[in-house]
Amino acid sequence: MSDTWTPQSWREKPAKHIPDYPDAGKLADVEKTLAGYPPLVFAGEARQLKADLADVAEGNAFLLQGGDCAESFAEFHPDNIRDTFRVLLQMAVVLTFAAGSPVVKVGRIAGQFAKPRSAPTETQGDVTLPSYFGDNINGIEFDAAQRVPDPERQLRAYSQAASTLNLLRAFAQGGYADLNFVHRWNMGFVADSPQGHRYEELATRISETLDFMKACGIDANSTSQLQATDFYTSHEALLLGYEQAMTRIDSTTGDWYDTSAHMLWIGDRTRHPDEAHVEFMKGIKNPIAMKCGPSLQPDELVRLCDALNPDNEPGRLTLIARFGSENVGDGLPPLIRAVEREGKKVVWSCDPMHGNTIKASNGYKTRPVDRILKEVQDFMAVHRSEGTHAGGVHFEMTGSDVTECLGGAIEVTEESLSDRYHTHCDPRLNANQALELAFMIAEGLKAERQQRDSVAAAG
Ligand code: PEP
Ligand code: CO
Repeated sequence: MSDTWTPQSWREKPAKHIPDYPDAGKLADVEKTLAGYPPLVFAGEARQLKADLADVAEGNAFLLQGGDCAESFAEFHPDNIRDTFRVLLQMAVVLTFAAGSPVVKVGRIAGQFAKPRSAPTETQGDVTLPSYFGDNINGIEFDAAQRVPDPERQLRAYSQAASTLNLLRAFAQGGYADLNFVHRWNMGFVADSPQGHRYEELATRISETLDFMKACGIDANSTSQLQATDFYTSHEALLLGYEQAMTRIDSTTGDWYDTSAHMLWIGDRTRHPDEAHVEFMKGIKNPIAMKCGPSLQPDELVRLCDALNPDNEPGRLTLIARFGSENVGDGLPPLIRAVEREGKKVVWSCDPMHGNTIKASNGYKTRPVDRILKEVQDFMAVHRSEGTHAGGVHFEMTGSDVTECLGGAIEVTEESLSDRYHTHCDPRLNANQALELAFMIAEGLKAERQQRDSVAAAG
């Protein structure tokens, strides 16, 4: 990091995807207010996540990151928070068993509001208005007043993030995350899913393992790890004024941490090495991630690794590949090889959502579950053939029964998309689709484990 980094040094650089606020004075007042609000996370927790991610970088753990594309004020409800948390835990149990290693659980939640958009304006009929940029910036209704960026929305987003995080902490530590409950929910899913028989064998083996552990005296009463879990939060660090206001010096180390979430990432559209978002990320000590799409060249990736993780600290940097199911097989290997050649220590994760968005014939933005699965499978196959660790997955999903992505055992069709299409931005997997994917990914993780075991046995 250069000597001149400060939480506001990004302001000297060109910045994309940050809205123009008509009232600069009001914006400055809000940022000042936010800077006086309590941090949402503690730096020590961010360091713990970094240590957990270092295990992923070393091939000894798996990262599961997921949640809304865009959180909204309208969908803010305890049941939605609970259901998303529950599905992430259910997925994590399946993946833990298959990988035979810990799963690091990170929600796209408690702060995931701001969105980069492909076009700055939206036209309906003969009316053109600014695009919707996320509930912390403007309103989704196609109405001139609603679309004006309003700084006060950041205060509401902070407050929603704070109460969401409070509930998540209670769920994670207060008994809701008991492994036996989570497994029972999974057994319910297997029994109710039309394709349930495909997952029965794995679910039965988990049941047997839990019974065996109980017979040995290992249960939630004797072992606290079985009734509580670590759950972390993350969002895209897009609205840098908000992130700056939440960036504080950690009194125990003297380092700067962005206390709006444990982990922050930069998107595929804002990862230019000479621009504001990369500048901001350089100086915060949180674990960070960067999206890697088809336009990223291997030499530029190496340059970004140097800029974002100059000490090559494992767990600091996660690279989230989002190529699309058609491109990952060709696009990913050159990036992995460049990273390996330079000895960079990173976590490789797969976002199978953002490269697989299509428009249905009735105009809905959607994603076929088959393509999502194929991208994850190809991502894992590439890592197997490169001899590197397929470290994690990054999903847009919700615990509710929405109809936004096509396919799944309880099939969402083009005709049913309109039934419960609630997303404020991109289409999300519903609870059943997310769980099916977890069971299918489990097969890939098992293959990676077998390959590793046989290499170890031969060596
Ligand atoms: C997102 O994660 O919602 C997003 C906008 O992704 P990307 O930067 O990969 O396009
Ligand atoms: Co999205």
